[in-house]
Amino acid sequence: MNGSIRGQNLLTLNDLSREALVEVLDTAESFVEVNRRTIKKVPALKGRVVASLFFEESTRTRLSFETAAKRLSADVLSLAVASSSVKKGESLRDTIATIDALGIDAVVMRHQSSGAAMQVSRYVPQVRVINAGDGLHQHPTQGLLDAFTVRQVLSERAGTSGVETGAELFDGLKVLIVGDIRHSRVARSDIAAYSALGCQVRVAAPGTLLPSDIENWPVQVVNDYDEALEWADVVALLRLQRERGSGSFVPSLGEFTQTFGLTLARAKRLRPTTLIMHPGPMNRGVEIDSRVADLPSAVVERQVANGVPIRMAVLYLTVAGTNEGVS
Ligand code: CP
Repeated sequence: MNGSIRGQNLLTLNDLSREALVEVLDTAESFVEVNRRTIKKVPALKGRVVASLFFEESTRTRLSFETAAKRLSADVLSLAVASSSVKKGESLRDTIATIDALGIDAVVMRHQSSGAAMQVSRYVPQVRVINAGDGLHQHPTQGLLDAFTVRQVLSERAGTSGVETGAELFDGLKVLIVGDIRHSRVARSDIAAYSALGCQVRVAAPGTLLPSDIENWPVQVVNDYDEALEWADVVALLRLQRERGSGSFVPSLGEFTQTFGLTLARAKRLRPTTLIMHPGPMNRGVEIDSRVADLPSAVVERQVANGVPIRMAVLYLTVAGTNEGVS
């Protein structure tokens, strides 16, 4: 287990200790304040170069990583993959070598293949590699920002700051993750984060949308979804990933919604304090009713907003690795 991501790559949350996770959350807390200033910039990564390589579609992750890097005063090289030489057949290895030749300190990369970020970290060992989502494997910064959002909302309710709270409020917290677990890198990173932080994690999904090795995961599979909704402090919905063929794992979208969608009727089973989360993009009317997504207890937009301080923290810790330049 790694006790810190300082000066390291961030490829997965599976090998991070509770202390390492809390260090990221606490660092992000200091960047929340920077993001509230009129001039939202600190010199922490001045002179450093961050390459943003998204081989797969993204709105939130790409924009918030690039915003985060700019707010840390880094220079950002953003590769438009669709109009790059990747389309002429240039390999991942040659693409990375080309970008590295321009002089970079970090690569933020999303790729459709599980393990692509790990592969790149072998090609350019002197560059910090941050996984922004690889195939079905991991989406580490989503796991971090989800845990950060839970800590932020619960500590606000308790009248404390997240840093004061540390990881205490995660002890025994009941987290229910619902939907397409099988194809979800978000589920894998969320489960790694929540379980390392001390939460109880349950998953609810049709049998066909559970991974075949679910018994080896640190979760309990629920038999009674409605009962689990009453149990949960946090309900995290997952997108039905039609681009990964998940539509063929359920008889019909309507049946999925009827059995596992968070409909308005089902949302009435939740306690008023239960947080409703979704990493986005949402399929409104499929895994979540549009009216549920807009309830005050749904924190979807706050999750998006927290993407910036979390990604500032990750870039800062992995690339700078010191305490210089934060203020
Ligand atoms: N949650 C998430 O990764 O969203 P994007 O695909 O828009 O980046």
